[in-house]
Amino acid sequence: MKKIIIAIDGFSSTGKSTIAKKLADNLGYIYVDTGAMYRSVALYALQNDCIVNEEVDEEKLISELDSIKIYFKYNPQLGFAEVFLNDENVESEIRTLEVSKYVSPVATISEVRKKLVEQQQEMGKDKGIVMDGRDIGTVVFPDAELKIFMTASAETRAERRYKELRDRGDSITFDEVLDNVVTRDRIDTSREDSPLVKAKDAIEFDNSKMTIDQQLNAIKELVKEKL
Ligand code: C5P
Repeated sequence: MKKIIIAIDGFSSTGKSTIAKKLADNLGYIYVDTGAMYRSVALYALQNDCIVNEEVDEEKLISELDSIKIYFKYNPQLGFAEVFLNDENVESEIRTLEVSKYVSPVATISEVRKKLVEQQQEMGKDKGIVMDGRDIGTVVFPDAELKIFMTASAETRAERRYKELRDRGDSITFDEVLDNVVTRDRIDTSREDSPLVKAKDAIEFDNSKMTIDQQLNAIKELVKEKL
């Protein structure tokens, strides 16, 4: 059976990973959450004094890039692959608001992007992959057979992320989450290297008012046309 690459890009907290995971499961494809890779680099920066006075020390972080090893390992109990940073499972730790605060500045650094993009391209070389992020359809796999661009209002997205964080027991306010979502979108769309833009051939999905099943069914129809 023909295998394809499915690129899902879009703004923060549009539910890309929820859909991507389910889609990959359904198709028997590999799922890769590239945001988890950038978040892991941000976590490394926080743990290794590469953040000074709330600023990323780019030079120090770049000089240590070779010692940052990121990989995914499938967890059959969860049904998806968890991310490891230097052999430590950091799947939960990378989702804090603290990491969210530094991830977009870290993701503006070209050396960081180059390292992670190369790894992502390697992971998708045999196709049969669903990858979500910000530059998958534009930079990582510009020839992906199917490209989806997800959007939803900032309030809807912050509401979803707020609920997720509260459910895990994080003590944060809705305004903190909304501020983080808006700030990340601003940095992600305005950075010089690989800014978040909709690829010309991507199909846009505003999922503010769509259920997960509706989104999944609509994307499954698009996949069928490509197989
Ligand atoms: O997808 P998630 O919201 O976890 O991504 C966290 C951050 O990582 C984004 O806000 C963005 O700054 C960065 N990112 C990126 N390119 C990707 C994936 C994520 O710059 N392909």
